[in-house]
Amino acid sequence: MRRERQIELLQRVADSGDHLAGLHGERSMINPASSYADPAHFADEMRVLFRNGPTLLGLSCEMSEPGSYLSTTLDGVPVFAVRQQDGSIRAMVNACRHRAAPLVSDRSGNLGRSIVCGYHGWTYDPGGALLARPLSAGAFDDVTINCDLHSVTVAEKYGLIFVRVGSDETIDVDEVLGGAQDDLGSFGLDGYTHIETRTNEWDMNWKLVLDTFTESYHIRWLHANTIAPAFNSDCVIYESFGRNFLSVGLRANVHDEFTKPKEDWSLLPYGTIQYFLVPNALVVYQLDHIEVWRLEPLDVGRVRTHTSIFAPEPPDERALRYWTKNLDLLLEVTGTEDFPTMERIQAALASGAVPNVVYGRIEPPLVHFHTALAEALATTR
Ligand code: FES
Ligand SMILES: [Fe+2]
Repeated sequence: MRRERQIELLQRVADSGDHLAGLHGERSMINPASSYADPAHFADEMRVLFRNGPTLLGLSCEMSEPGSYLSTTLDGVPVFAVRQQDGSIRAMVNACRHRAAPLVSDRSGNLGRSIVCGYHGWTYDPGGALLARPLSAGAFDDVTINCDLHSVTVAEKYGLIFVRVGSDETIDVDEVLGGAQDDLGSFGLDGYTHIETRTNEWDMNWKLVLDTFTESYHIRWLHANTIAPAFNSDCVIYESFGRNFLSVGLRANVHDEFTKPKEDWSLLPYGTIQYFLVPNALVVYQLDHIEVWRLEPLDVGRVRTHTSIFAPEPPDERALRYWTKNLDLLLEVTGTEDFPTMERIQAALASGAVPNVVYGRIEPPLVHFHTALAEALATTR
């Protein structure tokens, strides 16, 4: 992150007074429980945000070689993207044109020079054009429909890959990022190395995964026995970029930096710099690595999470152990403290006994996130 940008963000902390009250948002918000628990609301979100809207498929460095692919599911639509020989990306529906069997089953991998269906061997080129129907001896010669794979809109920029299944409308990555590209572009995401991705499922609405990371208010209580001593629990630095937003969690000792001359200030040792790419991803920029959380909503009260870690350079064995431990720790704190609480929140919201939740001015990213979602849904009703 550029130095001037770090200083600009730290200046806001320096100016914010006791308990960082100067970082508070302009207003609180009441959100009805139905936002988390109503199946009809969930269906609207899936259609508007996940099927029609662009979502983050992953990072370019996860599929850098020709033939490498990434897959996901968007509002039930199975999708995969393949790196072509010329370096471009093609995205397609992950369903064979014979009888709709999946063409890839893993989150990532390398297909080599062709895509071969595992059911009856129909073979496609990496761009999805049908090449062969082995062993069929002309049995499909009277079929008149085009049997190339259905293509899906895809775009790549700043080391980020976005897909859209709901329409052929092209994706303008700059428009999608809404200004966050000034920071994200400066991170050089293209140059990172994917270390590992771990997948889990949780009994909660997909938004609760993102809610978890939006604010630091909970740290002092929920993480009292783990990370609380190291982190500030007062407020976060918040900025919005269209529907996306930035939330920077701060270390407890952030004020130490203000003893230095201002031109030497550095945010990175003190900040957990989190870019929420609404609706489905969170890119966390840390001093020495990047974490990415991607969500696949499965049902109104069920979500799959993919947590990935990226290092600035290819790791040796020692570095690999370090990154694995880093991921272990991240998933242990979230998996034993945050998400079990979120699952119980989901159960309470779905019970019918809790009409709403309250987001305070101490949680400005939450107010922004849920306001932006409500607006996105309202404009398409
Ligand atoms: S479903 Fe793919 S070859 Fe039959
Ligand atoms: Fe937490």
